[in-house]
Amino acid sequence: MLFKALSAAVYGIDAHIIDVEVDFSGVVNEKMNFSTVGLPDAAVRESRDRVLSAIRHSGFDIPPTRITINLAPADVKKEGSGFDLPIAIALLGAYGALHIKDLSNFLLVGELGLDGNLRSVHGMLPIAVAAKARGIQNLVIPAGNAREAAVVEGVKVYPVRSLLEVRDLLNAAALGSMTQMPLTVMSMELLEELQIFAHDFKDVRGQQVAKRALEVAAAGGHNILMIGPPGSGKTMLAKRLPSILAPLRFEEALETTKIHSVAGVLNGDDGLVTHRPFRAPHHTISDAGLIGGGAVPRPGEVSLAHNGLLFLDELPEFPRNVLEVLRQPLEDGTVTIARASMSLSFPARFMLAAAMNPCPCGYFNDKSRDCHCTPPMIQRYVSKVSGPLLDRIDIHIEVPAVQYKELRGGSAAEGSAEIRTRVMAARERQHARFVEAAARNGQVRTRPSGRSASYAVYANAQMTTQQVRVFCELSSEAERILERAMQQQGLSARAHDRILKVSRTIADLEGVAEIAVKHIAEAIQYRTLDRSYWA
Ligand SMILES: Nc1ncnc2c1ncn2[C@@H]1O[C@H](COP(=O)(O)OP(=O)(O)OP(=O)(O)O)[C@@H](O)[C@H]1O
Ligand SMILES: [Mg+2]
Repeated sequence: MLFKALSAAVYGIDAHIIDVEVDFSGVVNEKMNFSTVGLPDAAVRESRDRVLSAIRHSGFDIPPTRITINLAPADVKKEGSGFDLPIAIALLGAYGALHIKDLSNFLLVGELGLDGNLRSVHGMLPIAVAAKARGIQNLVIPAGNAREAAVVEGVKVYPVRSLLEVRDLLNAAALGSMTQMPLTVMSMELLEELQIFAHDFKDVRGQQVAKRALEVAAAGGHNILMIGPPGSGKTMLAKRLPSILAPLRFEEALETTKIHSVAGVLNGDDGLVTHRPFRAPHHTISDAGLIGGGAVPRPGEVSLAHNGLLFLDELPEFPRNVLEVLRQPLEDGTVTIARASMSLSFPARFMLAAAMNPCPCGYFNDKSRDCHCTPPMIQRYVSKVSGPLLDRIDIHIEVPAVQYKELRGGSAAEGSAEIRTRVMAARERQHARFVEAAARNGQVRTRPSGRSASYAVYANAQMTTQQVRVFCELSSEAERILERAMQQQGLSARAHDRILKVSRTIADLEGVAEIAVKHIAEAIQYRTLDRSYWA
């Protein structure tokens, strides 16, 4: 007898609906004959052992037969252990152990333990999105995945813990008496929850210039590099950056959650990623860890930081080849990983914050201590950060050692909440501008735009060249200043665009429509530091 169940396979950060068909023919000898067809990977092929054991431990007695399992469509690669549950259910259906005959309105996903208990799987959010797109209403999935699936409106999520529970649920559905309440989560509410941060800017004494630069970076989503001697507070400042970022928009939260769901780093309690991610990989990370990789590609740190912050502390300590792979995502906001069998793109639009010492001993340019490094040593050290990478960083600042007076000074520093209020206001201004422009051009903005794997523009740093031309008009005096800076400092065309974006953000922080001379001058100021170290 043939029986069919529906499941899903994750591919990149999207899922495809998969038909799981089970057929068996007559009792053969003593041994179970079990074959799986339809491009299964090793984990899917192994599911036979888990499924048979789970079925037996759940109290079903199945005779040895020839079983064929077909996963269709055959041209989509199936991987992972999520097919255990649909295979087990289709098998029970084929043996006549279920009252329900038609499972076309149910999507089943879950890994089975040998005892018949269910375990969570990765990528449940994209799976729920795919189910909704197909019009499948009921999602029967492991309890640990329930909250992330419930973020999708319009599908009913049934969290289950064991194979027997699934059998009971489906039998109840056949009788039209599903008593189990579907779980629903008000997704927007999660985002509006009070945001609490472990570190606050009020702990940082002095460093006004650095704080201002970080505020500008946060307001426009610009990349920032901090250079300074040991103990000046670079790491301390970077750790406080998340506390002044604007909250995620709902669409941004969905984008980020999809990636975290596929990577399996979602915490079971929160369905949605509610804070901008802060990823701070150690400098021993591999390029695959940073960018993504594996036989079946998984997202790396740059993608986990999508819509958030990637912090690279002690930048020159990262191997050069690892830093160089950052160039593509920093420019395009996506990473493409090519494999013999497939090529996948993951979103990777993050704000980069980096910190470093100016030389091996750390005290080059320091007022109070002598530097013992020779010029070639300093050159060798800073050149670990290449020109092209440096060119992609919009804001370069010096973080000098704090003076004793400032450190011990009585007056308290400004706290994160106040800075964040200004950042949020500037973000709102940017958002309103992009929405208004899109409405003028008759585009729908909340969906990913036509450019492959690109997303709507939420912040100044994400503007396209064309948008820069439209939104960053300069007065003739400001124009002259920029021209002079370009010539004197030998800035690239990329630097030119990035300076314009930063100046737009500075004007947005002030709440003015026009980019004035002082805005462009401050933006240029942030690009002068690299001359003194990399020259
Ligand atoms: N501006 C400051 N206000 C208050 N405390 C500070 C300040 N700067 C540094 N500190 C103190 O010094 C400690 C070390 O600072 P931090 O680790 O940020 O230095 P760093 O610049 O990252 O140094 P390194 O280059 O060695 O990594 C902080 O944990 C904090 O206690
Ligand atoms: Mg540090």
